[in-house]
Amino acid sequence: MHRAMLSLASLVLLMSNALAQTPLERGKYLVEGVLTCGNCHTPRGPGGVLDTSKRHAGGPQVWETAEYKVRPSNITPDKETGIGGWTPEQVKAAMREGKRPNGQQLSPQMPYGFYKIFTASDLDAVVAYVLAQPAVPQKVEPPVYKVKQMTLEIPPGAEKPLAQNAMNDPTKRGFYLVTIGHCMECHTPMVNGHRDFRNGLGTGGERFEGPWGVSLSRNITPHKEHGIGAWSDEEIKRAITQGVRKDGSKLRPPMGYGWYATMNDADLGAIVAYLRTIPAR
Ligand code: HEC
Ligand code: HEC
Repeated sequence: MHRAMLSLASLVLLMSNALAQTPLERGKYLVEGVLTCGNCHTPRGPGGVLDTSKRHAGGPQVWETAEYKVRPSNITPDKETGIGGWTPEQVKAAMREGKRPNGQQLSPQMPYGFYKIFTASDLDAVVAYVLAQPAVPQKVEPPVYKVKQMTLEIPPGAEKPLAQNAMNDPTKRGFYLVTIGHCMECHTPMVNGHRDFRNGLGTGGERFEGPWGVSLSRNITPHKEHGIGAWSDEEIKRAITQGVRKDGSKLRPPMGYGWYATMNDADLGAIVAYLRTIPAR
């Protein structure tokens, strides 16, 4: 009885949140929160500090592999150097399919495989918000593709848009948020050139080099010793939003806690609920 009342109350809260938010507000909440588009697309100064005066203006970081050499694009609506000439449908195609308007396949450095699951209304909101940002003229060096770009694999269960009503189930909403937040891109190791979602989901160990030095993503499965299984909900939330681990030590970039700090408690709770359901490894 108590439980039924609680879930009714949270449903009403959820619905009133959804009703109260305009698409631009929803887009801002997602882009400046769980999506961390700016973690890649906003340039950084010394020490890795983000240059927010040039939000989403791209470059100058470079990602080079045997397959490509790319920089994060300027995704501000500047007509010359950004995506100001793109229609919302074209931006959606880049996000969901990894395709530029000229048909060019983006490198897998842009995490488009995680965006198939976007609900239609969230994708609309994200694109509306991105295109409503100030245009920042900044030319980013064009990508170099050394081979034909492979299409990025999609995490199991995230092949198609999530039905809106699934958002009312905290574990499903948590899966949705963890997917669009591409948490598992960083927290799942690559095996033979493929992200090992089936056997290594959440086990970490990826190496990130940048102006912050070198960091290794961690095991975020519910394993009691190697993962976060022995952490309380509050400790996990603190790591996600403040970058402070259970033992008090501080997390480094590119873990995006500065963005995640803007998430509401219901969404954070949903993420924790979902993380507790993945296989402990
Ligand atoms: C992990 C880093 C990363 C994240 C996170 C990321 N992007 Fe990208 N994105 C890139 C890179 C790198 C490219 C350029 C890829 C290339 O040239 O092959 C790109 C390309 C794009 C393009 C194509 C632009 C062009 O000029 O061709 C769009 C649009 C885009 N991103 C939008 C977004 C949005 C919106 C988000 C947040 C939902 C986002 N990206 C999150 C790295 C990222
Ligand atoms: C761009 C890569 C990246 C993304 C995206 C990312 N993380 Fe992380 N995360 C890291 C790295 C790297 C660390 C470790 C940093 C360090 O040790 O200084 C980390 C650490 C953590 C920790 C601390 C675990 C421990 O044992 O210390 C948690 C919890 C966590 N991430 C959860 C998440 C969640 C949830 C998301 C998605 C909402 C997410 N991460 C997205 C890279 C990422």
